[in-house]
Amino acid sequence: MNSREGANAGRLSGRRAIVTGAAGGIGAALARGIAREGATVACVDINEDGAKEVAASIGEVGGRAISVVADVTDLDQVERMHAAASDAFGGVDLLVANAGGSRGEMVPFLELESPLWHRMIDRNLTSVYYCGLVCARQMASNGGGAIVVTSSQLSEVARPGMGHYAAAKGGVRQLVKAMAVDLAPHGIRVNAMAPGPTLTPGNRAMFERPEVAATHQHTIPLGRVADPEEMVGAVVYLASEEASFTTGTTIFVDGGYTIL
Ligand SMILES: NC(=O)c1ccc[n+]([C@@H]2O[C@H](COP(=O)([O-])OP(=O)(O)OC[C@H]3O[C@@H](n4cnc5c(N)ncnc54)[C@H](O)[C@@H]3O)[C@@H](O)[C@H]2O)c1
Repeated sequence: MNSREGANAGRLSGRRAIVTGAAGGIGAALARGIAREGATVACVDINEDGAKEVAASIGEVGGRAISVVADVTDLDQVERMHAAASDAFGGVDLLVANAGGSRGEMVPFLELESPLWHRMIDRNLTSVYYCGLVCARQMASNGGGAIVVTSSQLSEVARPGMGHYAAAKGGVRQLVKAMAVDLAPHGIRVNAMAPGPTLTPGNRAMFERPEVAATHQHTIPLGRVADPEEMVGAVVYLASEEASFTTGTTIFVDGGYTIL
């Protein structure tokens, strides 16, 4: 058990969660983090081996998790994902809609072709709509729940070559507000956690390029990129009863990136 475990154990005790994009990066940290707080977790990803590995690592430290393979850009697969988690746990009352990312596909607006636009919107925005819809329908009929979406610093600011991603994450920010309004009467809170640049296996090579590292130095007031573990606290808070009066908001965990 590491030093982060134990101190606040149990803030999500009894919660039945789905975490999408749980095979690696921020999603793996979130899945392990909410499991440490007592939630039962369905680790969902298109990466079957990765999702299995994360679920197993949760089991090894005494948590309860299953892995589910699903592409969250496909509504049928999202419905099957929900059914798998619901069958295993007897319901779902926490959705962490984290799957997404830019995959480094930066393209100046004048060169932005329609297939890439749609791929980015599907992966980062439509996926939130699909997962949110399917989970919220069941939560509404079971007395409520919480939804936390992984957004981005680019829901607030723009950077060169990121129009498609910024539009998707800006859409997430508004969708979270709109869902919060419509779902409040059903006892469902909806919020977002917006990471700043966060080091993951997938972006390590890009982040270590000297020009990218130099840019991060002067665009992030805290002067460094984040570790995925640093995203866990805000998500646990938003998912927990400590945030019982918080809905429709985005917490930026970005080292101050959006200040400048
Ligand atoms: N890493 C960063 O710097 C950063 C910054 C801001 C926001 N974010 C956001 O954080 C979230 C996680 O990003 P990350 O950096 O950990 O990315 P990552 O690429 O390391 O992990 C993303 C995970 O999602 C899975 N995934 C991708 N598309 C999927 C799909 N269609 N269906 C199911 N699973 C899918 C991948 O297999 C992978 O396991 C994303 O929403 C991303 O936009 C990341």
